[in-house]
Amino acid sequence: MNIKQITILTDSEIVKMRKAGKLAAKLLRYLRDMITPGISTQELNNMAEKWTRSHGARSAPLNYTPNGFNPFPKSICTSVNEVVCHGIPSYKQILKDGDIINVDVTVILDGYHGDTSKTFFVGTPSMKAKELTNVANESLQKAILEVGPGKHLGDIGAVIEEYVTGFGFSVVREFVGHGIGKKFHCPPQIFHYGTRGDGVMMQPGMAFTIEPMINEGTWKTEILSDGWTVVTLDRKLSAQFEHTIIVTCTGVEILTI
Ligand code: MF3
Ligand code: CO
Ligand code: CO
Repeated sequence: MNIKQITILTDSEIVKMRKAGKLAAKLLRYLRDMITPGISTQELNNMAEKWTRSHGARSAPLNYTPNGFNPFPKSICTSVNEVVCHGIPSYKQILKDGDIINVDVTVILDGYHGDTSKTFFVGTPSMKAKELTNVANESLQKAILEVGPGKHLGDIGAVIEEYVTGFGFSVVREFVGHGIGKKFHCPPQIFHYGTRGDGVMMQPGMAFTIEPMINEGTWKTEILSDGWTVVTLDRKLSAQFEHTIIVTCTGVEILTI
């Protein structure tokens, strides 16, 4: 079997993906309302874990162990300010006025994954933080408009890169979107930069995430000694938004709404 094979989901699988996606979106809305100066990222994690269980689902990040990594120790990723992604919740990390925080949740419901994230303001953001966050969100919206049967995966990256660089911001290159379904991460990789017409042609039934990480300064990143936390090399701000989507016969359906 070719491990690079992209799964085409059946109608009954799509029904389950819709349910998982909706649950992930609901969890993110629940957590959004908890974000305020003084709360720790561990408290957000604990609420997410409890909420997920009480809705008959599991947290996919907890103990997730990709090749070459140690198990991720928590239920959600909380990435504050210069943290690009994979921030680990901690009681030591207390949110303060002016922070930006990306909360990334992935639930497993009835065997299928829903993966979504947003960047939130803690109190009042700086003008730069606000602009960066809005551009990151807008880049995802523009990318989703590029999805449809017969379009190419490269169209997604191209529109993100073109839009974001127009503001003087940069697109992270080392981390990408991914196919999703029964597995958390599977082919295809979704690059958030690139060239129109490049890459695989999209087909109805392909499910994947788009999750652009947009930096204020350099696109380069490094991983901290905990083995997970990804930060900008220049320690300037980073913002991210993520949806799980599926290609339909006529275009695209956003599953994590
Ligand atoms: N949710 C992240 C993504 O969008 C992956 C997190 S992996 C973890 O793909 F182990 F850090 F949780
Ligand atoms: Co993802
Ligand atoms: Co995610």
